[in-house]
Amino acid sequence: MEIRRYADSDRAELHALAQIAGQGSPTASLWGHPESEAAIYLDPYLDLEPESVFVSVTDGKLTGYLVGAVDSAKFPSEEERMTDAIRRFRLFRHRGPLRFFARAMADTLVTKLRRHDTAGDFTDPRYPAHLHMNVAPAARGTGAADALIRHFLDHARTAGAPGCHLQTLTENTRAVHFFTRLGFTPEGHPVDVPGLRYEGHRVHQLTMVQAL
Ligand SMILES: CC(C)(COP(=O)(O)OP(=O)(O)OC[C@H]1O[C@@H](n2cnc3c(N)ncnc32)[C@H](O)[C@@H]1OP(=O)(O)O)[C@@H](O)C(=O)NCCC(=O)NCCS
Repeated sequence: MEIRRYADSDRAELHALAQIAGQGSPTASLWGHPESEAAIYLDPYLDLEPESVFVSVTDGKLTGYLVGAVDSAKFPSEEERMTDAIRRFRLFRHRGPLRFFARAMADTLVTKLRRHDTAGDFTDPRYPAHLHMNVAPAARGTGAADALIRHFLDHARTAGAPGCHLQTLTENTRAVHFFTRLGFTPEGHPVDVPGLRYEGHRVHQLTMVQAL
């Protein structure tokens, strides 16, 4: 197994991997429209900061990937990327996304009425770097995820980032366990994620941080 930086020639294979690498996790699919999900959580990283994208390769095949930004303040926010994808893919015209966003609006209203916080971007100058990662089921538990994250954290540290954050779900118990072992600690308290369900239940965003 080798970890290396993403190259442009990986793009098609990486897109195919992204469709299966989240399997089993609560964020495996958000609204059942892979192109628009990739337009938010994959393509901007490949286009704007390819030097912060790492892949794991086994027998010549991509098995996992990590995308990130060294300074999140200089990277389009999740909200901006989502608004752009909604417009570009006319997501309100597709049944799956329409159902998701309608539920998200209802969830947001309920959350506001209860005066609870809702999920959103995390901005704290102590932890400017951020990352997202997925490893295909066959490569989990092999050390590929450890190696991917260590490469990114070394890269962010060398680029001068004083810290890194990530956002996962409390319901993603494997990911929380993994990130904790890699030195991340929870920041603040978990907050409601509008629209998303896992095994029929609402899910909660957990922000985790690490000084570099
Ligand atoms: C999260 C992910 C990157 C971690 O990589 P991994 O190779 O599976 O990680 P590891 O096997 O090294 O570590 C997982 C740990 O959780 C434990 N674990 C396994 N299943 C678990 C579960 N259901 N609940 C809690 N812990 C669990 C493992 O025993 C292991 O513990 P250890 O480190 O003490 O040995 C990978 O599982 C993945 O890509 N999952 C799907 C997508 C995803 O969730 N991405 C992250 C989104 S924020």
